[in-house]
Amino acid sequence: MLRDADLVSVDQEHLIHPLHHPSDHTEPIIYVRGCGATVEDVNGHRYTDGLSGLWNVNVGHGRAELAEAAAAQMKELAFFSAYVGSSNIPAIQLAERLIDLTNDEMQAVFFAPSGAEANEAAFKTARFYWKAAGKPEKVKVVARQEAYHGVTLQSMSATKMGAYWKMFEPRVPGFVHTQTCYPYRFQGARAGETIGQAAARELEETIIREGPDTVAAFIGEPIHGTGGVIYPTDDYWPLVREVCSRHKVLLIADEIVCGFGRTGKWFGLHHWKVKPDIVAFAKGVTSGYLPLGGMMVTKMVKEAMDSVSPADRWMHGGTYSAHPTCCAVALKNLEIIEREGLCERAEKMGARLHSGLMEAFANHPNAGDVRGGKGLLAAVEFVEDRATKQNFSGDLKVGPRLYADMKKRGVVTRVRPTAGTHPATGDILFLAPPLVVTEDEVDRLVSVASDAVKAVLNSR
Ligand SMILES: Cc1ncc(COP(=O)(O)O)c(C=O)c1O
Repeated sequence: MLRDADLVSVDQEHLIHPLHHPSDHTEPIIYVRGCGATVEDVNGHRYTDGLSGLWNVNVGHGRAELAEAAAAQMKELAFFSAYVGSSNIPAIQLAERLIDLTNDEMQAVFFAPSGAEANEAAFKTARFYWKAAGKPEKVKVVARQEAYHGVTLQSMSATKMGAYWKMFEPRVPGFVHTQTCYPYRFQGARAGETIGQAAARELEETIIREGPDTVAAFIGEPIHGTGGVIYPTDDYWPLVREVCSRHKVLLIADEIVCGFGRTGKWFGLHHWKVKPDIVAFAKGVTSGYLPLGGMMVTKMVKEAMDSVSPADRWMHGGTYSAHPTCCAVALKNLEIIEREGLCERAEKMGARLHSGLMEAFANHPNAGDVRGGKGLLAAVEFVEDRATKQNFSGDLKVGPRLYADMKKRGVVTRVRPTAGTHPATGDILFLAPPLVVTEDEVDRLVSVASDAVKAVLNSR
C-alpha cells in the first residue's frame, strides 16, 4: 500500500488530470470515501461536498444500492455491443424511462459515455437532420458566451470561455456565439427590453447575420453551470424557442448539469415549459456512479433518422453506446431520485441555500450578484466595486483563495476565477451540493462561504 506522500509523488509523475497543470497538484486531496454530502480524504479529513463531485453526484455518495445494481448486471452481462442488430435489456428499459421523464416530449435516446460526447452526438444529429431534409448547407451551431459544453474539439468550439481554446486552436469551423441572458452583465439592451428579450433578439440577429439557411442548431444550458451558474430571466427560453422555430433552427438543450433533479425538476427547461428538439444529458443520470451520457430527440428527428436509406444512415456511435452496466446503474439511480423525492428535496434545500446566501451576501460590498433559487444550483459573483461592477484583478486570485480557504474549513467546491474586466465575469463561487444535503449542511455551506469571504477579502 502506498503511503500518502508516495501517492502524491506517483500522482505527480504519472497521472494527467483534467485541465492539467502541475501547480494545481502540489498538495492534492486524495479522496477515499464518501457518504451523503460528505467525502473523506486519505488522511481522514472530512469535507462537505459543495459541488456534488462535479455537479453530478445527485443522490449523494456511498450508495451501496448502485454498487449492487452494477454488480448484478456485471454478473449477468457486463457488456455487449449495441451495434447493428444487437441490443440489451437495461438500455431498452432506460430509454423508455427517460422518454417517460420528458412527459413523452422526446421520442428516442442515444447513449454516449460522457457529456461532451452527448453534445457531439447532438451536433452531428442536427447536421444529419438537415441533410436528410434536403438542406445540406445548414451546418452551423450557435452557442453562447459563458457556455460550457465539454472539451472534445466540437464541444470545445461550442464552449465560450477563452481559456479552453487558447492552446488548442484552431477551433472547428461553424460554431458562432451570441450573448447569453446574463442579467448582471448583459450589454446593449434597448430601452424597455428585458434582458431576456434583448438576448433573444441578439440570437435572432446572429442567425440572420449568419444566414438561417446555414444554421443547423442553437445550443444552450437552461441555467449555465461552469460559466457562472447564470440564471436567465423567465421570458428568455420561450423567446429562444420562438426564434429557433421561426428560422428552422433545431434547439439543443444541454441538460448535462440541470437534468435529473438538480434544479428541482427532472429537466431544467421544464421550468419554462419549453420543448427542445434535442436534449443532451449526462452527469446526474447515473449520479456519477458510472460514466453515462446521451441525447434524446423528438419524434420529428427520430423519423428523419428512420427514414433515410441504409447508405445514408446516421453513422455515429461508439463501443460503449448503450453500455448495459452503466444503463442498469442509471435505472437504479433514477429509481432512487423518484423514490426519495429528490427533485422536491432539491427545490426545498435550494430555497434554503439561496435565502442563506442572500442573507449573508445581499448587502456585502463585494457581492455583485447572488444567484440561485431553482434547486441546488447557486453562486455568488464577487466584484471589487459593486457600483461599477469592476472585477478584482486576476492577480489577486480572489476565487482560488476562496476555494483554498473553504477547503481549510472543511468544504470543497469550485470557483470560476475572474475572466477579465466587466462585462467579463467576476470571481464566482459555486454551490451545488448533492440533493440529499441536510438543512445543517446547507447552513454550514453558507457560513463557511461567509467566513472564507471575510478572511480572504479582509486580507486582500
Ligand atoms: C453543461 C455541460 N455540458 C457538457 C459537459 C461535458 O460533460 P463531460 O465532462 O462529461 O464531457 C459539462 C461538464 O461539466 C457541462 O457542465
